[in-house]
Amino acid sequence: MPFLSRMTMPLLRSLPAERAHSITLKALQMGLHHTLGLKPALGQEAMDRLACQVWDIKFPNPLGLAAGFDKNGEVIDPMLSLGFGFVEIGSVTPRPQAGNPKPRLFRLTKDQAIINRMGFNNEGIAAVAARVASWRSSVRAHPGVLGVNLGKNKDSEDAAADYSLGAARFARISDYIVINVSSPNTPGLRALQSKDALRDILLRTRDSLQGAADSPQGLGADQTDKAPPLLVKLAPDLQEQDIQDLAALALEGVCDGLIISNTTITRPDTLKSPQSRTNQTGGLSGAPLYEASTELLAKFSALTQAQIPLIGVGGIRSGADAYRKIRAGASLVQLYSGLVYGGPESVGNILSDLADLLQKDGFKTVQDAVGVDVQYYAKT
Ligand SMILES: Cc1cc2nc3c(=O)[nH]c(=O)nc-3n(C[C@H](O)[C@H](O)[C@H](O)COP(=O)(O)O)c2cc1C
Repeated sequence: MPFLSRMTMPLLRSLPAERAHSITLKALQMGLHHTLGLKPALGQEAMDRLACQVWDIKFPNPLGLAAGFDKNGEVIDPMLSLGFGFVEIGSVTPRPQAGNPKPRLFRLTKDQAIINRMGFNNEGIAAVAARVASWRSSVRAHPGVLGVNLGKNKDSEDAAADYSLGAARFARISDYIVINVSSPNTPGLRALQSKDALRDILLRTRDSLQGAADSPQGLGADQTDKAPPLLVKLAPDLQEQDIQDLAALALEGVCDGLIISNTTITRPDTLKSPQSRTNQTGGLSGAPLYEASTELLAKFSALTQAQIPLIGVGGIRSGADAYRKIRAGASLVQLYSGLVYGGPESVGNILSDLADLLQKDGFKTVQDAVGVDVQYYAKT
């Protein structure tokens, strides 16, 4: 672990979780990542093995930053410079929102996990889109792909209108758009995962996305009339019937990809942290989410017959974890909690271990490994 990182990580962990997060964001905005010297030193062969194309987008590698870390798009470049192949910002809601009362973010250190009930605290579409547009038009230091994750305002009656608004605003300045219907911290949100509700949201959002992409007064720098892919982020706590219904819905062609998964409202018996922590309401992420989210990923891969790209997220801490998700059907993977516990150098470590594992198993590219274990999961 580099010297500066060895000094700063224990300091950050000694602070309340949300305070540590704000300090991290500030430090990254001020350029701390440069002083850490963390740019992963991957050889050309490893980079070639990790580079991939999903939809029409070229990703330098399949490891992304999950939504929630950079809700307002303040540290896109610093996070790309750590080695992430893509960054997903948000969730962003149409109007700014303060989120739930603090404290609302809890570390479960013994479990390498986090519980959060942030409640979509964010600066709102206008402020975030202005920041993203300026990032887009700047000369960028790092290649990388940007996803924008959309939420709905807590007091909004028409969820589809909220998502449509976000989609229109980000259509020309993002590489992909995510409809988040799976956060446990906005009342009623997860009910939008029912097949009919979700179909309505996706069709309306899709129209709005295409309308904005076609508009001659594009909002950003990219001169394209192709709408970015539209993804849906799902919860790990879906019932069997929901899983079947949602896979069938995805096969109708109403969306271009699925992200599996968001945080869980369950509390596995295996948790070791004090009850005062594990009893906190909110979504649980990190190591205890790994198995369930990976099994769900494999299930969706099987049900959608690998026709729809999937992003696997939940509990990734190592190259081996990322590799298993890819073999379980993920074309791309993301992490958040692993970064909190593993520190910024975990990005480079995961990438170089992943490249080694692919090579060891004879995969020329990461794409060749996608879904090779899906049948194994189907049998267990
Ligand atoms: C503090 C925190 C805030 C989050 N906020 C969001 C969010 O705004 N939108 C979203 O789609 N997911 C959000 N997530 C979920 C993550 O994107 C991810 O799906 C989940 O944490 C599982 O991945 P992990 O185990 O690698 O953390 C949040 C997670 C955490 C820990």
